[in-house]
Amino acid sequence: FQPKVLAGRKVVITAGPTFEALDPIRGITNHSSGKMGFAIARAAREAGAEVALIAGPVSVATPRGVRRIDVKSARDMLAATQAEVPAADIFIAAAAVADWRPVAEADQKIKKDGSGEVPVLRFTENPDILATVAQGERAKSRALFCVGFAAESHDLVKHAKAKRERKGIPLLVGNIGPLTFGQDDNQMLLVDEKGVQELPRAPKIECARQLVGEIARRLPR
Ligand code: C5P
Repeated sequence: FQPKVLAGRKVVITAGPTFEALDPIRGITNHSSGKMGFAIARAAREAGAEVALIAGPVSVATPRGVRRIDVKSARDMLAATQAEVPAADIFIAAAAVADWRPVAEADQKIKKDGSGEVPVLRFTENPDILATVAQGERAKSRALFCVGFAAESHDLVKHAKAKRERKGIPLLVGNIGPLTFGQDDNQMLLVDEKGVQELPRAPKIECARQLVGEIARRLPR
C-alpha cells in the first residue's frame, strides 16, 4: 500500500541528456541514461500526481500514466519546461543538461576536405533551466516547489550546499558516488534549509519513492 501523497498535484520532471547538434549528423551529448528521472516520474505517478516528463534522447520505457514530451537540445528542453510549469506544483530537474552548445549548427554535414585541416569547435553557454524556473514568479511565490540534482566527483556536501544556494531552490539532491550513470542503484543526499540528510542506498525506483515522500512532506498545504 502506498499513500497518494501527491494526489491533485502536477509534477514536471526533466530527464536524460541533451543533444547539441553540430551538423545534421553529429552532436555533443553525455552519458545520462534518464533512469533516475524516469523512476521519479513513475514514483510521482504512483503517488497520485499528474506527471509531465520532459525527456532528452534516452531509451527508457515511459512509465504508465505519465505524459512524455521528447526534446533534443537544452533550448528545446527549456521551452518545453516553460510551457509546463505555469500549472505545476513541483519541478524536478533531473536532466543532465549540456552546459555549452556549438555556436552554430551547420545545415550540411561538415566534410573532410583532404587538406588535413581540422575543424575548431566554438561553444556558447546554454540556458540554465532550473535556475530560470527557480527565478520565475511561481517559484518565488512558493506555488512551485523546485528540486535540483548535483552529480559531483568530490566534496559533494560542500558543492551541494553551494549549488542549492546558487540556484535559489528549497531542495537539492546529491548523488552519493560512485557516479551512477546507467546504474540501477543510487544513494541520495538531501540538502535543504535545515541541513543535510543521507538516504539509504537502494534501487533507483526506491530512491525515487523516498524522494517523492520527502518532497510531499515539504509542500505547502
Ligand atoms: O549547474 P549544474 O549543472 O551543476 O546543476 C545541476 C542541476 O541543475 C540539475 O538539477 C540539472 O538538471 C539542472 N540544470 C539545468 N539546466 C542547465 C544545467 C543544469 O536545469 N543548463
